[in-house]
Amino acid sequence: MTSPEFWAHGVDTAQLSIQRLGDARYDSPLTEVLARRRDSQNYVGEDDRVLLDDTARGVLARRNGTGGTGQLPGFEPGGPRRRIWFDPPGVRAGIVTCGGLCPGLNDVIRALVQELWQHYGVREILGFRNGYQGLVERLATEPMVLTPDVVKPINEYGGTILGASRGAQDPDEMVDYLSSLGVNMLFVVGGDGSMRGAQKISDAAKARGIELSVVGVPKTIDNDLPFIDQSFGFQTAFAKATESIRAARVEAQAAPGGVGLVKLMGRHSGFIAAYAALAKNDVDYVLIPEVPFALNGPNGLLDHVLRRVQERGYAVIVVAEGAGQEHFPSSDATDASGNTALQDIGRSLRSWLVERFAAADEPINVRYLDPSYAIRSVPADPYDAVYCIRLAHSAVHAAMAGRTAMVVGRWHGWFVHLPISLVTSRRNTVDPHGDLWQTVLEATGQPWEFS
Ligand code: F6P
Repeated sequence: MTSPEFWAHGVDTAQLSIQRLGDARYDSPLTEVLARRRDSQNYVGEDDRVLLDDTARGVLARRNGTGGTGQLPGFEPGGPRRRIWFDPPGVRAGIVTCGGLCPGLNDVIRALVQELWQHYGVREILGFRNGYQGLVERLATEPMVLTPDVVKPINEYGGTILGASRGAQDPDEMVDYLSSLGVNMLFVVGGDGSMRGAQKISDAAKARGIELSVVGVPKTIDNDLPFIDQSFGFQTAFAKATESIRAARVEAQAAPGGVGLVKLMGRHSGFIAAYAALAKNDVDYVLIPEVPFALNGPNGLLDHVLRRVQERGYAVIVVAEGAGQEHFPSSDATDASGNTALQDIGRSLRSWLVERFAAADEPINVRYLDPSYAIRSVPADPYDAVYCIRLAHSAVHAAMAGRTAMVVGRWHGWFVHLPISLVTSRRNTVDPHGDLWQTVLEATGQPWEFS
């Protein structure tokens, strides 16, 4: 039997509808290509939906009506439309990258420009600098004029040619500047905070009767946006992190009482730590924000590590930056994005381990690595590079079709449109009872809990 709790997603059809500026008015320049695709089994028609639930029990539970609407909720598919809202010569597009860096930002910028220019014939594309600051006239430096020639080499480099910044800005001021420049289509590449900002820009424009399509490309190295299979840059990030894990293990193995300790990004979600540890498959302990742990006592983390080193000679620990915050006094301090400032679990763990080993009169050599910025500043790997292009193309198709207040993403393999309100309504986290964490426990051999 199914129960309401069974629907992990807890979402109904109304929450998946996508805002439009209006009904499509023009034939798309891609109409011919689309006509050829229709026979392909990979073609998802514009009126079709990509189902939210993909287990038989989930679908049946909704069918039985216990899901509220009795309908099967689904996402609007991504991709080109036969009819579009904007007349391409009348488009002035803007692109802005917000928040922390992530591999693939330049790939997204490049693909947005190329798709707008080459397939839709858009000739006016502005790159706003330094995140939302660049959308406020009194704070902004001159926007960059983006053309295919300007963006041609940029995917070779990490970071973003536009710069980025954290922090919100006043939506009305941003709409003032955008409309003074004649921008009617804005692509926001950013995380959850930036997407909240994008929603406010879209709302402010609508309230003032200004036709502005705002489409997000979700960027989060932590992979913490929900209803998206995986965020771009995440695979590059955890692949790069494995280099530090390898170094920590080699160093730990070669030193008496060696403990390799690697701190990785992951404020609320431990995906990078979990995947990087699994990719190397020789990590003894993975600590993530979703799973609190006890430090002291015979079943606490410190004694576990001590025993591991006594028995095998060395240990390797991967800790996500947001793990173990329960061991520090709570604080109200925040960063410019409004995130609670984290205490440094990596350095603290190092001290606590040294103290514990000293108390047991055991030698210890902690090899501590914090490769955070070295990880997120690299160019996208080939997988992420492909993903970035496909996300960017989906974003352009959506904007040209007059969609707004939405982000593009991939759900169960399909490119889809997601309302910003949905992707900012919760966070994607590692489920301590889910199969990913189960795999981590099996691969590391660490206990279900440190108590
Ligand atoms: O964007 C998320 C993130 O990667 C977090 O994991 C991390 O806490 C944060 O960015 C750090 O970014 P910055 O040092 O730029 O504030």
